[in-house]
Amino acid sequence: MKYRFCGNSGLQLPLVSLGLWHNFGDVDDFSLATDMILRAFEQGITHFDLANNYGPSPGSAETNFGKILHSHLKAHRDEMVVSSKAGYPMWSGPYGDGGSRKYLMASIDQSLKRTGLDYFDIFYTHRYDAQTPLEETIQALIDIVKQGKALYIGLSRYPADKARQAYEMMDAQHVRCLIFQDKYNLLYRAPEAELMPLNATMGKGFIVFSPLAQGVLTNRYLNGIPENSRVAKSHGFLKKTDITPEVLAKVQKLNELAQKRGQTLAEMSLAWLLNKKEVTSVIVGASSVKQLQDNIDTIQNIDFAAEELQRIDLLLRGPDSNR
Ligand SMILES: NC(=O)c1ccc[n+]([C@@H]2O[C@H](COP(=O)([O-])OP(=O)(O)OC[C@H]3O[C@@H](n4cnc5c(N)ncnc54)[C@H](OP(=O)(O)O)[C@@H]3O)[C@@H](O)[C@H]2O)c1
Repeated sequence: MKYRFCGNSGLQLPLVSLGLWHNFGDVDDFSLATDMILRAFEQGITHFDLANNYGPSPGSAETNFGKILHSHLKAHRDEMVVSSKAGYPMWSGPYGDGGSRKYLMASIDQSLKRTGLDYFDIFYTHRYDAQTPLEETIQALIDIVKQGKALYIGLSRYPADKARQAYEMMDAQHVRCLIFQDKYNLLYRAPEAELMPLNATMGKGFIVFSPLAQGVLTNRYLNGIPENSRVAKSHGFLKKTDITPEVLAKVQKLNELAQKRGQTLAEMSLAWLLNKKEVTSVIVGASSVKQLQDNIDTIQNIDFAAEELQRIDLLLRGPDSNR
């Protein structure tokens, strides 16, 4: 594994991190989940990304991660960076969703209990909540760090102007924001306009979620929809309607390019992200140890010739996909 400093902080993250959004819940195979986490750690993936609601059922990915950590990796806690988040609906009533102090404070306590951890390395506000004053959300995060429940703060899915305000507020209280987490991949390039330049200028790490567009930017859907794929699962967030003929035509061309580079399409898609100096790490998902290993193998070649990058830009020109 290779590591990059997270913005201008002293914390290094692995180029490839593992996310537990899908495939680690109580509907999934626990022994496979264990194998993937152990393989990841063995291969130098030190960063595991969680959220309160990952499952299904919501919370079960944290519970399973905690079980695996305590049975196999307890001695290695200090070698890991574990993150969690709160922001999306988690429990009923007005205090289980959004960005209120009430929700964030209760949620981190619940997440710590489920995982059995004493603290999270990074705690995120999972989304911008326009109904809660920004100051309330950010003050809650600052206080979470001051209480020792998290070491660093992260923002996810914030508009650029709100992210800037949040950074300034944290700086004023000497609890810097470490990292920004956003969707970014070959089919979805919106962060290039504002968020990536902002984070680079302000010295924040930028970590990518859904770097493979939930599996679309791999060979997964090139020959139809496999039975065990995310699209085929009723709880999967990727829908059949996302795999349009236009998207598939682009993916097919990207796949040809990847083959010429001697990489799988998954490897090339991740390499394209990691080729950018603004990207600290990519958080991959995986439903098998083989997929995970393929994603880790990406780091063997993240270089592109200028003509390859031009070819990619050219073939992707057209309407943005929404994954
Ligand atoms: N902050 C946020 O709001 C937010 C939102 C979404 C995600 N996230 C984070 O980002 C993480 C990653 O998101 P994601 O799961 O959407 O990431 P992704 O890496 O884009 O997609 C993962 C899926 O792609 C397929 N795949 C992965 N590697 C493959 C390979 N080498 N070959 C073929 N197929 C492969 C698998 O699909 P199959 O299951 O079909 O095999 C896998 O489940 C999450 O776990 C979470 O930690 C954060």
